[in-house]
Amino acid sequence: QVHYRSDYKPYPYDIKDVYLAFDLAPNATIVETTLTVQRKADISGEEPLCLDGVDLELLSIAIDDRELDESQYQLVDGGLEVLNVPESFTLKTKVKISPDTNTSLEGLYLSSGKYCTQCEAQGFSKITFYPDRPDVMSIFKVRIEAEADVFPHLLSNGNRIEHGEIEGGKHFAVWEDPFKKPSYLFALCAGDYDLLTSSFTTMTGREVRLEIYVDKGKLDQCHHAMESLKKAMKWDEEVFGLEYDLDTYMIVAVGDFNMGAMENKGLNIFNTKYVLASPDTATDTDFIDVEAVIGHEYFHNWTGNRVTCRDWFQLSLKEGLTVFRDQEFTANQTDHGVKRIEDVKVIRSHQFAEDAGPMAHPIRPDSYIEMNNFYTVTVYNKGAEVIRMYQTLLGRDGFKRGLDVYFERHDGEAVTCEDFVRAMEDANGYDLQQFRRWYSQAGTPEVTVSSDYDADKRQLTLNFKQSCPATPGQKDKEPFHIPVKVGLIDTLGNDIELKPVPLTQGAAKVEGDIVHLKSAKQAVTFDDVPEGVTPSILRGFSAPVKLHYDYSLKELTFLFAHDSDSFNRWQAGQELFSRVIFDLCEQQEKGGTLRFDDSVVSATKNLLDDASLDGQFKSLALTIPGVSTLLEQTNSINIDHLITARDFLKKQLAEKLELDWLLHYQTNRHLGDYEQDKESVSKRALCGTCLSYLMTLEKDSVYQLALKQLETANNMTDASIALQLIVHSNYEQKLKVAEDFYQKWQSEELVINKWLSIMATDPSDETIDRIESLLDHPSFELKNPNKVRSLIGAFTSANPRQFHRADGRGYEYLARQIKSLYAINPQVSARLTGAFNRWRKFDSERQQKMRQQLEVILSMPELSKDVFEIASKALKQD
Ligand code: ARG
Ligand code: ZN
Repeated sequence: QVHYRSDYKPYPYDIKDVYLAFDLAPNATIVETTLTVQRKADISGEEPLCLDGVDLELLSIAIDDRELDESQYQLVDGGLEVLNVPESFTLKTKVKISPDTNTSLEGLYLSSGKYCTQCEAQGFSKITFYPDRPDVMSIFKVRIEAEADVFPHLLSNGNRIEHGEIEGGKHFAVWEDPFKKPSYLFALCAGDYDLLTSSFTTMTGREVRLEIYVDKGKLDQCHHAMESLKKAMKWDEEVFGLEYDLDTYMIVAVGDFNMGAMENKGLNIFNTKYVLASPDTATDTDFIDVEAVIGHEYFHNWTGNRVTCRDWFQLSLKEGLTVFRDQEFTANQTDHGVKRIEDVKVIRSHQFAEDAGPMAHPIRPDSYIEMNNFYTVTVYNKGAEVIRMYQTLLGRDGFKRGLDVYFERHDGEAVTCEDFVRAMEDANGYDLQQFRRWYSQAGTPEVTVSSDYDADKRQLTLNFKQSCPATPGQKDKEPFHIPVKVGLIDTLGNDIELKPVPLTQGAAKVEGDIVHLKSAKQAVTFDDVPEGVTPSILRGFSAPVKLHYDYSLKELTFLFAHDSDSFNRWQAGQELFSRVIFDLCEQQEKGGTLRFDDSVVSATKNLLDDASLDGQFKSLALTIPGVSTLLEQTNSINIDHLITARDFLKKQLAEKLELDWLLHYQTNRHLGDYEQDKESVSKRALCGTCLSYLMTLEKDSVYQLALKQLETANNMTDASIALQLIVHSNYEQKLKVAEDFYQKWQSEELVINKWLSIMATDPSDETIDRIESLLDHPSFELKNPNKVRSLIGAFTSANPRQFHRADGRGYEYLARQIKSLYAINPQVSARLTGAFNRWRKFDSERQQKMRQQLEVILSMPELSKDVFEIASKALKQD
C-alpha cells in the first residue's frame, strides 16, 4: 500500500490528554490507555474514531466507562474503528503486548533484560491503540509498574510526580510531561542501570538535572557523552538563543537499537555506540560521533519537538534542519574545513548514489510504502545541504531571523516544510519561489562550467549550464536556484577581488562571491582579471550538485597547492586522483602497461610536506576517493578495472614516496601519554594515512611497524587502524593477530563490532568463507543491529572487491542474510537490501546476478513491506 503526501487530511478529533498505565511483563505487558477525546468543531457525528494498532491483543474497550460490544467497533488491518462516538468522551482500552518477542525493535521491547521503546516513525501503534501520527499532539501521563529488584529505574518523559512500593515486590512510578507531544516522542525505559548525573544551569538561571543511564559497569565510559551534552546545551543558547525547557534531561543507552538515537522528549534513547567512549575503546572519530549525535538529539528539542512535523513527508523539516545544526556544532568544536569535507564525502558517496538509483526521492518525498525506508541520506544530509543554502543566501543573520520567525509562529505546532520556507521568506523579504524546487525535485543537479578569457578587455566569463537527470516518476526538471560560490586565483596563488560586470540580459546575478544560477544557461563576466587566473568554483560545496569544469592536470595541481578554500583544495586533489584512476581504467581496456603523470606524485609530496597544513586535513587530502564515490562519477564501469586502478595508484604513490611516508609517520608518531587535543588527533590521523600507504608495499619492515603500533597503542585509534591494515594485508600471521585482538577485547562489545567490520572488509578472497563462519561466532548475533551492520553491512558497503565478486557469491551471501533476518528485523533487512540499488551500473554478468538475487528476495514468503519496497523498486526502475 502506497501513502501519498497529497492525501493529507487533518485528524477529525482532538486527544486532549492521554493516560497510559503499563504493567510490565516480558510476554504479557498490559497497557491500559485512557484518552480524553473531543470531536473537532467542523466534523460530523458520522465520522468514526480511527486508531492505529499493530500486533496488539485487545482485552477491553470502553467509552465513558461503558464496555463496547462488538457491534460498536471493528478491528481493521492496522487498527481499530469506533463507530458513532459522542462529541466528547473518554475512551479506555486495555491491550496485551509481548516486549520479549518483539525483535523488530519498534514499539516496546526488551533488550538485554531492560525495557525500552522506539516509537518514531510509527512504533507507538505497537504499544496501544492511538492515532499514531505526528499532527495529533497531547499531554501524556504515564504510570509504570514492574518488579522493584529487577527494574529499579522506571522512566518516561517529563517529570516524575509519584512513585512507591506495591505489595508483591513491585513498585511504580508516575510521569507527567507538561508539553504536548505527538506519540512518536513517547518513551519508556525500565531496568537496572548505572547512572551518571550532573547538572547544567541555563541562560535564564534554571538548573537542569542531567542523567545518563547505561549498562552496569559502563559508567567510566559516559563522561564524554555528559560533557558533550553540556556543550550542546550551551552552544544552542549562544548561537540560536534556544534554552532547554524541562527540569531533567535523561539519556538511556541501549545495545539493541535500529538507528543512532532518538530524541524522545526529555528521555533520549541512544545506541550505545553514540554514548560510550573511552580512549582505549573508542577512536577519535567515535569521540566526535558521540558528541555529534548527543548534539543532534539535544537540538531536536527545539527543531523537532517544540516544532514538529505535520506528517511524515515533512521529515526533512526536522531532520535536515537538525543535521545542519549538529554539523555546525561539530564544526565549531573541531575544524570547519575538515568537518565540511567529511560531510561532503557522505553526500558524494551515499546521497549521490541514492539520487541516481531506484529510491531517488526529493528531500520531501511524495509517497512511500514504508516510512522507515525514508530515513535516508537524502532527507537527512541533502536536507541539511538545503538548509545550509538558506544560510548562504540569507547570511547568518538572515538565517537566524528566519528561525526566530519560525519559532515565534509555530512553537507547539506540527507544521510543514512550506511553513519553514515562508518563515525564511517573510523574515527576510526574500523570494524563495524557485528555491522551493529543492523540496519537490529529486536527483542531483549537474552544473557544467566553461570559461573564456578576453585578454584585451581583461575580462573572464564563466558560462554555466545546469540540468538534472530524470528520476523515477520525475522525467523533466525545472532549473534550480543554485548558489555557486566562486573565487579567482592569480598565478601567485592569491585570490583576486571579484568585479562582476553590471548585470546584463540573461546573466547570473552575483552577490559577494556567490553566483546565483537560476536558469538552464547563464553566464557571468568579471572585470579587471589578470592573465592566467584559475577559477575555483563551488567553494565550500555551496550547493549539493555535481560540478563539471574541464581543468587541466596543471590547473588541478595548482589548486591542490594553493586554493584558499580548503574544501576546494581538497576537491582538487580528489579530482586529480579520480582522473588518474579513470585514465588507468581506460588503459586497462586497451591493454598495455599502466602509467600516469609524475605531476600527481609531486603534488602528493608537496601536500604531505606542507608544514602549514593540519594533519587531519592532510590525511583527508591524501586519501584516494573510495570506490563508491568513484562509481558515482561514471555511468558504466568495469569494477575490476576500477579497483585495480585505485590499488595501482596507491601502491605507486607509496613506492615513489616511500621515504616521505615513513618520515612523516615517524615524526608524527606520539609515544608519550595519550592526549586528546586537536594536535594529537591530527597526528594520529596523519600517521594512519602514512601507514596505510606504506602497507601497500608488502614489506616485512612495514608489517613490523604496524604490529608494533598495535601492540604498544594506548588508544583505540592507533590500535584499530593498525589492526585493519594488518588484517587487510597479505601478512602471513594476520589471522593470529586478529584472534589475539579478539581475545583481548571480547568483553567490549563496541570494540568487537570494529573487529567484525575489519574482518568483513578484508579484500582477500577468503573473506567470504570467513564471514560465513563468523555468523556462528560467539561475537555475532543476528538480532543485534550493530552486529549486523558491522559484519554484513560493512561487507556490502566497504568491501567492493569481495561483495562484487565475479562469481556472484557476495550477492548470494547478502540475499541469504536477508532471508534469515527479514522476519526478525524488517528495518535493518531493508537497509541491507539497499546494497543492490545500484545494480544497473555494473557489467551485464553482475547485473544479471544481482537481479537474480533481488528476485530471490522478492519471492520470500510473507516479505516485510520494508524489504518489499526496496527490492521491488530496484527491479522496477527503467
Ligand atoms: N529521529 C531520530 C534521529 O534522527 C531517528 C529515528 C528514526 N528511527 C526509525 N526507526 N525510523 O535522531
Ligand atoms: Zn534526527
